[in-house]
Amino acid sequence: MKEIKKIGVLTSGGDAPGMNAAVRAVVRTGIYNGLEVYGIRRGYQGMIEGEIVLLDTDSVSGIIHLGGTILQTARCKEFFSFEGRKKAYEQLMLSGIDAVIIIGGDGSFTGAGIMSKEFDIPFIGIPGTIDNDLYGTDYTIGFDTALNTVVQAVDKIHDTATSHGRIFFVEVMGKEAGFVALQSGIACGAEGILIPEEKGDLNKIRKYLTDRARRKKSSIIMVAEGEDEGGAISIANKMKEEFPDFDIRTTILGHVQRGGSPSAFDRIIASRMGKDAVEALMDNQKSIMIGVVNGEIVHVPLSKTVKLHKMVNMELLEMVDILS
Ligand code: F6P
Repeated sequence: MKEIKKIGVLTSGGDAPGMNAAVRAVVRTGIYNGLEVYGIRRGYQGMIEGEIVLLDTDSVSGIIHLGGTILQTARCKEFFSFEGRKKAYEQLMLSGIDAVIIIGGDGSFTGAGIMSKEFDIPFIGIPGTIDNDLYGTDYTIGFDTALNTVVQAVDKIHDTATSHGRIFFVEVMGKEAGFVALQSGIACGAEGILIPEEKGDLNKIRKYLTDRARRKKSSIIMVAEGEDEGGAISIANKMKEEFPDFDIRTTILGHVQRGGSPSAFDRIIASRMGKDAVEALMDNQKSIMIGVVNGEIVHVPLSKTVKLHKMVNMELLEMVDILS
């Protein structure tokens, strides 16, 4: 049982609002427990290049409300190779780092899992991604803020859609998952939601548009970027051909969903997860993700969270059919 004295913290993959709150909690909890906490800049790329800096309590002052990540992040191809991970390990050893806390998504956790098998360095993951697609936790840091960003944007689209009697196909992020589309669609009162988890859902839209002729004057259709029928533009073009009388437009929200000041909810779960990650390392835990389930902090083996698929709540999907 190696005594943990120095820990590294990094943010990896797509940035997410609330990552800074998690970094702050890791640093403050580490210092509170007499540890040295090192910031590893630019994710795995910075680990490989030795961009490692000792942090103190002032390093994380005034950041809890900031979107993005003060440590910056990067997607790092070199880390996919053993040589890259070996360089990273050597840099950690040069700094005397005993363990690493990684704030990121499934891709980042996969890399951490591989490295922790090849080298004697404990990793603990904190789920930081707007996609909310990680198995074992109800929420990932950034998801709540992204939902609210989408809702504010789509409420604006709703104004112009009703003014012109238009149908808007709005594309949102989420990688291969439909969590952002499903929950923001419900919150916006969307008439249709297209997600990768529901096969054949475009036929529901066709039916809706057919019936629509007798009903609504404007519609919002949320489209998850990973939808198997294609993105908002290709789906809208198909619908324009099939329903030439309708005034159809598209909006792709893109990286707007990744920014902004984190919501109170995200700040709180990020703070809880950051604190618990340090305490888990001090308890000699490793290769786990810190999650939250039914409001309680849980520990999920990293091997499970990267391998198992998180299901969408089908009850929510059925509710859309009723409410739209
Ligand atoms: O994983 C977060 C995410 O925003 C996904 O929803 C999206 O598909 C991806 O990152 C975009 O990646 P990048 O910012 O590298 O273009």
